[in-house]
Amino acid sequence: MSAVDDVTRPQNVRLSDSGRAVRILDQSLLPNRTVYLELSGLSELYEAIASLRVRGAPAIGIFAGYAMYVLSLQTAAEDAGSFLAECRANRDYLNSSRPTAVNLRRMLDRQLTAAQSARGGGIAEMQRAMLRTAEAIHRSDIAMCRAISEHGLGLIKPGDSILTHCNAGPLATSEYGTALGPVFLAHERGIPLHVWCDETRPLLQGARLTAYELQSAGIDCTLICDNMASLVMKQGRINACFVGCDRVARNGDTANKIGTSGVAILAAYYGIPFYVLGPSSTIDPDCPDGAHIPIELRDEEEIKSRFFASPTAPPEVRCYNPAFDVTDHTLITAIVTERGVCYPPFEASLSAFFKEAET
Ligand code: MRU
Repeated sequence: MSAVDDVTRPQNVRLSDSGRAVRILDQSLLPNRTVYLELSGLSELYEAIASLRVRGAPAIGIFAGYAMYVLSLQTAAEDAGSFLAECRANRDYLNSSRPTAVNLRRMLDRQLTAAQSARGGGIAEMQRAMLRTAEAIHRSDIAMCRAISEHGLGLIKPGDSILTHCNAGPLATSEYGTALGPVFLAHERGIPLHVWCDETRPLLQGARLTAYELQSAGIDCTLICDNMASLVMKQGRINACFVGCDRVARNGDTANKIGTSGVAILAAYYGIPFYVLGPSSTIDPDCPDGAHIPIELRDEEEIKSRFFASPTAPPEVRCYNPAFDVTDHTLITAIVTERGVCYPPFEASLSAFFKEAET
């Protein structure tokens, strides 16, 4: 692993200049340090996902595409069959790093399919196919984020205040982001908006990443603790909630960062529209509803000691640390994808994506 400080141009995930490593902005160190890492070993690629050095469902998917390609360059295989067996093993190992976001599995599978389809051309052709696929995944995320931003912007008006939870901006994706995409687009066009950022305990993506991204771009924002959302809604300060997603089930139930479902329940109580924004790669046609979405459990120390100068809880206390929760589809006003705005009933409005996945 090599690390260099570079504060001039943050870019979250790309292939390194040598073409043999994945270069990421280490999100676990933000906002205090801007450190880029070049990763190529299987265990360090796995660790980068598990430790949230790269995070956000779409960014993890882009990373997975490049990771599979970079690993394919290190092959010891002498024939196509052994090469594919190695690719399969890499896919299975990387896929075990985080269970909730479906983009990881889908992009790993896409790379395996790309290699299989190029089998006739031998190992070199399979590697080239994987490079093309990694670049296509990245390019398509940029285009999808741009389209989501346009559709999302159509749901709000100048002067609105948006509440968001966790981070679904450029750091979590590429370029505009999903939930924050409309906000960045509005800013570019001179449309005034205000963003309330939930700090997002325990890993503080809202404070460390969302507030950082918005503040750096000169976008008007206010940071609040998660337990303050109810008050600002009651005070009439929120016009809409925009959140990202890690997996959308067929019925519209949506997994996103822990605390999101609480925001949706509050929004329903106060009559505030609650929008989920994400690329179609986050919709899982194999998942009928939220009960089938695996929820990642993380280390107790994230609650007790991480980000604090000294521990804030007795060391022996038992903790429960689910990283995601599922927002019931009945609480969601609309799901915004690159194709447009899907309204309930979601089973019907999202079905175009399932048909596409089947073909
Ligand atoms: O654990 P994280 O930080 O990877 O969780 C991220 C989220 O929950 C995001 O809201 C989601 O991935 C959407 S990112 C466009």
